Amino acid sequence: MQDVKGKYIWIIGASSGIGASLAKELANHGAIIALSARREALLMQLKDELTGSSHITIPFDISDCSQTLKAKEEILKNLPHIDSAIFMAASYTEHDGGHKPIDVIKTMIDVNLIGAFNMLEAITPVFEQRQTGQIVLCASVAGYRGLPSGQPYCATKAALISLAESLKIDNEAKNIDVKLICPGFVKTPLTDKNKFTMPMIISSEKAAQYIHKGLCSNKFEIHFPMKFTLMMKILKTMPSRLYFLIARRLKSKL
Ligand SMILES: NC(=O)c1ccc[n+]([C@@H]2O[C@H](COP(=O)([O-])OP(=O)(O)OC[C@H]3O[C@@H](n4cnc5c(N)ncnc54)[C@H](OP(=O)(O)O)[C@@H]3O)[C@@H](O)[C@H]2O)c1
Repeated sequence: MQDVKGKYIWIIGASSGIGASLAKELANHGAIIALSARREALLMQLKDELTGSSHITIPFDISDCSQTLKAKEEILKNLPHIDSAIFMAASYTEHDGGHKPIDVIKTMIDVNLIGAFNMLEAITPVFEQRQTGQIVLCASVAGYRGLPSGQPYCATKAALISLAESLKIDNEAKNIDVKLICPGFVKTPLTDKNKFTMPMIISSEKAAQYIHKGLCSNKFEIHFPMKFTLMMKILKTMPSRLYFLIARRLKSKL
């Protein structure tokens, strides 16, 4: 995709934070957005704020595959096609290193990982039939390594990175573009739960601008802000012994 103008873009996780800002950013540049998440009232309010008039709201729960398939059908009844499907949804409890009940862990896996597979179940046949499309998965730099106090969120994000890499290779011959988003810290309701200082945190509007630029580029990974994500990439390539030395120091500062 070289330009979002006139493109039909499905954002799952659009009711708040980065997803909501991304909807505004893309609509400002001429995209038509299908807004999805569970909280319908927030989606309706956002739709009214978007530039342009053809946007739609499709509320549903991404952790439920049948709801996801119905949502896709609903979009295709209201819009001529889908050019890009962006998976922004996530469930998160704060990084505190404490024990998390299994129900909380299952919810995170069901939304953050199974949710991505549910989107793929819905959208892949559509893109295969059109022989074009863009699949975008939002992971995190928190998926680069097992961060101190990061379980189980980091585990779901590491899995998403792996999924996006496999998808990219498997879909190249089908003319389906696959992109991975790995943000550093962004101020949203999700990070408002954190009690520690988040280095180099940026606004959701700024994050949306980085993502917009990345969607229209030929890069696979959209990561930002660069100064922070490059540091995280160095951690990613370190041998485990060295990484654990640094991770222990990070843990003592949390
Ligand atoms: N903020 C950061 O610093 C940061 C850093 C790295 C990566 N990320 C990633 O960026 C993405 C957006 O996060 P954010 O910070 O903008 O958080 P956010 O404001 O909490 O947004 C999360 C979105 O996911 C939706 N969602 C949650 N459960 C859902 C479900 N079962 N079905 C459908 N939608 C669901 C929420 O809407 P409803 O509650 O209305 O369903 C909301 O729209 C996430 O993937 C997050 O992991 C964020």
